[in-house]
Amino acid sequence: MLDIMKPQSVAGHPLIIEGSGIIEAGKWSDVSHVQKLWKDRKVLIKKSPNSKFRYFDMKKNSGKFDFRHPVQEVQDSVASFLEQADKMLSEGADERMYLQETLSGHSEMAEEFASWKWELPIRISHACGWGLPDSNELFIGMQGAETPLHFDERENLFFQVRGQKEIVVFPFVDYVKLYPFPTTHPCDRQSMVGSPIEADLNAFPKFKDASGHYATLRAGDLLYLPYGWWHWLRNLDNMAISVSFWSTTPATDLSNGVPSEFSDHMLTRVRRNLESLVAQKFGPEHLDESMLKLQQIVRNKQDDPILKYVRELLAAVKIPPQKQDDFLLEIIDGRFGIDWNKYV
Ligand code: FUM
Ligand code: FE
Repeated sequence: MLDIMKPQSVAGHPLIIEGSGIIEAGKWSDVSHVQKLWKDRKVLIKKSPNSKFRYFDMKKNSGKFDFRHPVQEVQDSVASFLEQADKMLSEGADERMYLQETLSGHSEMAEEFASWKWELPIRISHACGWGLPDSNELFIGMQGAETPLHFDERENLFFQVRGQKEIVVFPFVDYVKLYPFPTTHPCDRQSMVGSPIEADLNAFPKFKDASGHYATLRAGDLLYLPYGWWHWLRNLDNMAISVSFWSTTPATDLSNGVPSEFSDHMLTRVRRNLESLVAQKFGPEHLDESMLKLQQIVRNKQDDPILKYVRELLAAVKIPPQKQDDFLLEIIDGRFGIDWNKYV
């Protein structure tokens, strides 16, 4: 398996491995296994008025956006979760629930953890030069519950424990075609497109040129999702269960100096950093104005201290002057001067 994983990680391409047996899926085929593990312990349950579970983090709201919470979060027992979920389905409600629990500090799961084949994610992480898998999350979703398009800044080995889940992934370099929320918004790292199967192509025309890859994950499948890859997921079965094993990606090695040309992957990170630097320099709550102003002065071929600052940053990552305008306009196009709440 390492022979397959290593080149895949170097190329930064996702992969599905069948039959890895990291977690014994058979044991989890009956959902009562989770109830036995957790008993009355309270875990994080998200409730959505529809099928969408948009992630957000209010600590990230440095832009002070007026933000409407898309989901409600409660702490409840598995028994109560299962009971309420049954009721919702039998009543034909639009609402959905999604249990999403971080697995640190769960000493009651010691025996369960001991039965997982940790040597596999550990050996993969080592062979690929990542940090050790250092955080896990358990997902239990109602049928139809969706995780909108977003990316994570980590390497993810995602194991499907029970039932089927659909997934659509897009490469990190499709960044501008996926219209991320501003970096100062609670939905940073999330795509405003939300769902690849219901995309609003009038609002997000570049999305039609993005390269989506579809797959269905079945119990026992292990998905490798490299750093930055965009993903959208939907539970096909009721109480589909997944566990993620996250590892950090090492920082780019610049010990041999700055490369003469940056890869598209690195330039995608540059797009994101550039936005954060503009936010820092001109005030996070003014990012929208700063970006619209930049758009205006670039289009009108004007000059301004803000553009001078940005050109210095772009020159530092070796983007030639004749390419800088397009690079900038691509970052701003369709993402600013809009009502973001419409796409949460
Ligand atoms: O719904 C999900 O299983 C989401 C997983 C992820 O975003 O990593
Ligand atoms: Fe994710």
